[in-house]
Amino acid sequence: MSGNDRPVGQPTPNQNAVAAGDAAADSAFLRACRREAVPHTPVWFMRQAGRSLPEYRKVRQGIGMLDSCMRPDLVAEITLQPVRRHKVDAAIYFSDIVVPLKAIGVDLDIKPGVGPVVEQPVRSRADLERLRPLDPEDVGYVTEAVGILTRELGGTPLIGFAGAPFTLASYLVEGGPSKNHERTKALMYGDPELWNALLDRLADITAAFLKVQIEAGASAVQLFDSWVGALAPEDYRRSVLPASAKVFEAVAPYGVPRIHFGVGTGELLGLMGQAGADVVGADWRVPVDEAARRVGPGKAIQGNLDPAVLFAPREAVERQAARVLEAARGLDGHIFNLGHGVLPDTDPQALTDLVAYVHEQTAR
Ligand code: CP3
Repeated sequence: MSGNDRPVGQPTPNQNAVAAGDAAADSAFLRACRREAVPHTPVWFMRQAGRSLPEYRKVRQGIGMLDSCMRPDLVAEITLQPVRRHKVDAAIYFSDIVVPLKAIGVDLDIKPGVGPVVEQPVRSRADLERLRPLDPEDVGYVTEAVGILTRELGGTPLIGFAGAPFTLASYLVEGGPSKNHERTKALMYGDPELWNALLDRLADITAAFLKVQIEAGASAVQLFDSWVGALAPEDYRRSVLPASAKVFEAVAPYGVPRIHFGVGTGELLGLMGQAGADVVGADWRVPVDEAARRVGPGKAIQGNLDPAVLFAPREAVERQAARVLEAARGLDGHIFNLGHGVLPDTDPQALTDLVAYVHEQTAR
């Protein structure tokens, strides 16, 4: 969007961001998000930056995960690494879903091989009151890193992201990663008023965090609701959808594509389609054409090669990727991705080869 056709009263990103955004505006990735014709199917991978890359392991040596997220030079370098190596069609900002919580003072850490661990879990009204609103100044390093990236990336769009209220609530209430989300569900069923207040507060924090990234120059945003597949549709509709919808609504005026993703969401895709995103991501359990049918008209689909397929020989990877492309053939907007993040032991060459394969197969 150029400055001229921005409606009066709309938020205005800084000039850097506008220039970088213009360069990326015609990219295959943003065109696919808007369901426009593309020169080839765009590809990027969730968790494309990270432990699968030797150059990532090298620059992260001796630096904690959260510390690295607060160093703009390091964030920019790590974000650029998979773009240089794999020639993906979009960069994803290097950070973690718990960064905005850390920024408002929640005592948490990311433990290697475990994930986010919260010192004092949130389970009462008093705990909730400790979650204050996010001020853009809490995350000045994000503004700075996005600024570096939009300049360095040229025409490659940058995707900003945040964790969705349910997935953040799960870490906060459980105090760490959880298989069954039992304490989270106990709060959701046992004290709906406190639950709704918690999700509403997290929606505001998440929206504020996405706004910082967009205003600094991010061309699109993705809301990760990784663990929401643990819910039945009726519970999702009543107890989670309003908070996620609030996040999408809050960033709608910027006009950047909004992507919505979760794992194990086959039975939730219809409701996720109602939450307000422009693009819905599906994991590998539902073919993308069926995912599009469930999501409903007017939305692009992102996905959905099983990340474990990348451990098979190259011909097998190509056969499975061809199945995804075949299912996507009739869709208006398709962004090729994995059905969840790159697994740490993935051979990076398998990812580079996959990007080339999708580009070749879909060149028009
Ligand atoms: O390339 C990208 O996609 C951007 C980087 C990114 C990270 N975390 C970096 C990271 C993104 C998008 C995330 C989001 C995130 N973090 C999610 C949603 C996406 C998903 O995978 O469903 C979730 C659930 C988290 C929480 C989290 N943080 C987990 C489960 C872990 C892994 C713990 C482990 O060590 O196995 C983290 C840590 C983390 N976040 C790492 C990275 C690269 C690994 C830490 C390291 O490299 O030392």
